[in-house]
Amino acid sequence: MIYPWFKPDTARNNEIIEIKKMISQKNLTMGNKVNELEKRLQKILKINPKKIYIFSDFNPTNINNQKNINFIKSLNYNIKTFISDVHLGSGTFQEREWDKFISWLNGDVDYHKEWIPNPGYLVIAGDAVDGIDSYPGQEADLSITDVWEQYAELSKSVNKIPHEIQTVIMPGNHDAVRLMEPQLPLPDKVIKNFGDNLTFTANPVLLDLAGVKTMCYHGKSLDDLVSLRDLSYDNPMGMMKELLKRRHLAPIYGAKTPLAPEKQDYLLIHDIPDIFVTGHVHSFGVEKYNGVLMINPGTWQSQTDYQKMMGFQPDPCRAVAVNLQTFETQVLDFNF
Ligand SMILES: [Fe+2]
Repeated sequence: MIYPWFKPDTARNNEIIEIKKMISQKNLTMGNKVNELEKRLQKILKINPKKIYIFSDFNPTNINNQKNINFIKSLNYNIKTFISDVHLGSGTFQEREWDKFISWLNGDVDYHKEWIPNPGYLVIAGDAVDGIDSYPGQEADLSITDVWEQYAELSKSVNKIPHEIQTVIMPGNHDAVRLMEPQLPLPDKVIKNFGDNLTFTANPVLLDLAGVKTMCYHGKSLDDLVSLRDLSYDNPMGMMKELLKRRHLAPIYGAKTPLAPEKQDYLLIHDIPDIFVTGHVHSFGVEKYNGVLMINPGTWQSQTDYQKMMGFQPDPCRAVAVNLQTFETQVLDFNF
């Protein structure tokens, strides 16, 4: 679901500033007093921390009043977990490790249980399935050759995720939506198979998850960035830095990133996010850059024949968890 953003209100903003001062006092870091203030804030802001707020449909701009909510970060929902590029339906999809990840989310695997995002959020940053016709001859590499069956299979495992975990699915270049960016959310015929704890967004999208500004972009433009000097597919952090520096998610025009001829540029980075996540390149990285936590969680697909030919080694079966209070991160490696 997409929630409308609230309008400015001077009286309310003044009260928010007052509560912000109270919260910023060192002796009010945690505990009942904070819970009381949190409830007061939620009442004022009409924010339900169990819901995911989307600043706008696929527009990372128009972020009014964002500062008003920054300071209620993470008072309730502590953990956010990121994965990307599941590629279900591919012959090289790591099904055993994926099933282990789903079991872990249910608390059934004895591995870093303190990082299970329950309650919390799970973000899937595109390429949830391998799709069809993504490249010539793909059919030979697929274990499921019908894209709708791929989504049906995905829904079977994703629907096992506990409902307390709010899950976001964004499309990528392998998904069944237009290739041109911004990409629209997955169609209704896919969405209807998933539970109420799933939120389907466009690509890119700027999310407010418990007050933490999270900019999600699948990352097709990294195919253009890689041609720049000193950048490579095994260094996604280097490429993400370049996007932040340029304040644009697809700064090279006329190369490999198809852009929709919209009246407005939806790929501009107007405001600096707290967290910036991409996928697409199938290589893993976590790094802080000028106060922005950059994450690329890698993939759930092992090396393909094409990647082997290109000498590229992917980083499969990892998730990145973030503590939304401290911004501490934990890499969760399901290759066991
Ligand atoms: Fe991918």
